[in-house]
Amino acid sequence: MITIKNSEQIAKMREAGALLHMVLQEVSRKVEPGINTAELDRFAEQLIRKNHAKPSFLGYEGYPATLCTSVDDQVVHGIPSRRQVLREGSIVSIDCGLVLDGWQADSALTVPVGEISPQARQLIRVTEQCFFEGARQAVHGQRLGDIGHAVQALAESHGYGVIRDLTGHGIGREMHEEPTVYNFGQPGHGMRLLPGMTIAIEPMIAMGDWHVDEDDDGWGIRTRDRSLCSHYEHTLAVGPDGLPEILTLPGFQWKEQEHGTDPL
Ligand code: MF3
Ligand code: CO
Repeated sequence: MITIKNSEQIAKMREAGALLHMVLQEVSRKVEPGINTAELDRFAEQLIRKNHAKPSFLGYEGYPATLCTSVDDQVVHGIPSRRQVLREGSIVSIDCGLVLDGWQADSALTVPVGEISPQARQLIRVTEQCFFEGARQAVHGQRLGDIGHAVQALAESHGYGVIRDLTGHGIGREMHEEPTVYNFGQPGHGMRLLPGMTIAIEPMIAMGDWHVDEDDDGWGIRTRDRSLCSHYEHTLAVGPDGLPEILTLPGFQWKEQEHGTDPL
C-alpha cells in the first residue's frame, strides 16, 4: 500500500530529515585514517538519542548497529566493528536511519578516507549526480521508471554498473514502505508519482560490474568483481508541482543549471 502524507506529516518528516542530515554531517567529519567504524557508530547513536530520536536500523530484522559502514567494494550493510579500521585511500559509505516522533528519515553518503584516487573521487561524484538526476524525475505525473532510467543512464554513460539487487523505497511511519524505487528502468513505465508520496532514492554504483555477493556475517554485500562501490541516498517528498523537497538535505534549493552538474 502506498501511503500519501499530508503537509503536517511531511513537516514531521522534515524535522526527522533535518536531524538525520546533522547526524550524518557530524559523523562524516569524524572519518579519518585510523578510526574504527564502531567509534562512528557509537557517536551516531549517542547523537541521535541526545536529540530525542531513535536509530531505526538498530534491531531491524536483527541488525546490530545504528549505522551501516560499507568500505570500498562493500555496497551496503557493512556492520560497524572495532576491527574495521579505516585506512587512507579507502571510501566508506555511511548509511543511517532514525525515527523522530514516529516519522522516519533515511540517508546515506560516501566519504573519502584521507586522500583518495581521482577514480574513486569521480565514482563518488557521479553517484551523487545519479541521485540528483533521479530525484529531478520525482515530480507529480512522472513515473517510477523515469527515476530509475535517469539514474541508470548517467551511471552507465560513465561505464559504471548499477547495483540491481538493492533498491530505494517508500518511507514514512515505516522505514520501508511501498513502492520499490529501482535504480534502473524505462522512461514512462511504472507507477505514477503523486503529491504526498515520500520516497528514498538510493543509487548504489560500482566502478565495475553490478553483481554482488553476501559477506559471511549475513549482512554485508560487496561487488562480486570486488570493484569499488559508492552509495548516496536521501528521503524526499513529491510535491503537487515542481521539483521534490529533499527532506534529508535541509535548505537545499534546486537550480536550473544543476542539471548534470554537482549541486553540492
Ligand atoms: N538504508 C537501508 C535501506 O534503505 C537500511 C539499512 S538495513 C538495516 O534499506 F538493516 F541496516 F536496517
Ligand atoms: Co534506504
